[in-house]
Amino acid sequence: LKLVVLISGGGSNLRALLEASEDAEFPARVVAIGADRDAEGLVLGEEFGIPTFTVPFTAYESREAWGDALVEQVRQWEPDLVICSGLMRLVPPRVIRAFSPNLINTHPAYLPEFPGAHGVRDALAAGVDQTGASLIVVDDSVDGGPIIAQERVPVLPGDTEATLHDRIKPVERRLLIQAVLDIANAHLDLKELTAR
Ligand code: GRF
Repeated sequence: LKLVVLISGGGSNLRALLEASEDAEFPARVVAIGADRDAEGLVLGEEFGIPTFTVPFTAYESREAWGDALVEQVRQWEPDLVICSGLMRLVPPRVIRAFSPNLINTHPAYLPEFPGAHGVRDALAAGVDQTGASLIVVDDSVDGGPIIAQERVPVLPGDTEATLHDRIKPVERRLLIQAVLDIANAHLDLKELTAR
């Protein structure tokens, strides 16, 4: 299974995928890493010998123009699955049309709870005693697409956004690796999931 992973930040979930794909048995490999800015996670490209590309959001006069350029870049790698893992940008409909349903996103909350760019902070502010991690198929809603997998994560007294996020990320990584395995082994069919 050929993966293109899109990031905006440190790429800790990406690192987990890269480490998993070092195992010859793992039925997927990251063929390229893309970012919407000079994300520090792009350094993983050098570390693991994977091509990287950047489509800087700020270089385009519209989200749509940025989306076109992103589709152009991603398409070149002929991915079987595009993974937004820490891409902190809403992709425009044209990106979804180009890759759906093989476009998935990791989210650090138990969707549909706390969608959007600050899921961890919002859960903390809401004072809940548990939140979660979710993996969804990207559709034209904000984090409202079909849920591939999700798991509860406890919020502990004294948690900060950072400590809570650090407890969520390993769960995200586990869900992501498992989903890639299930898709590669045809145990999970994203077309069927989105058609439900
Ligand atoms: C992850 O929790 C992801 O779900 C969210 O932002 C975080 C990115 O972390 N969208 P990293 O860049 O993978 O470390």
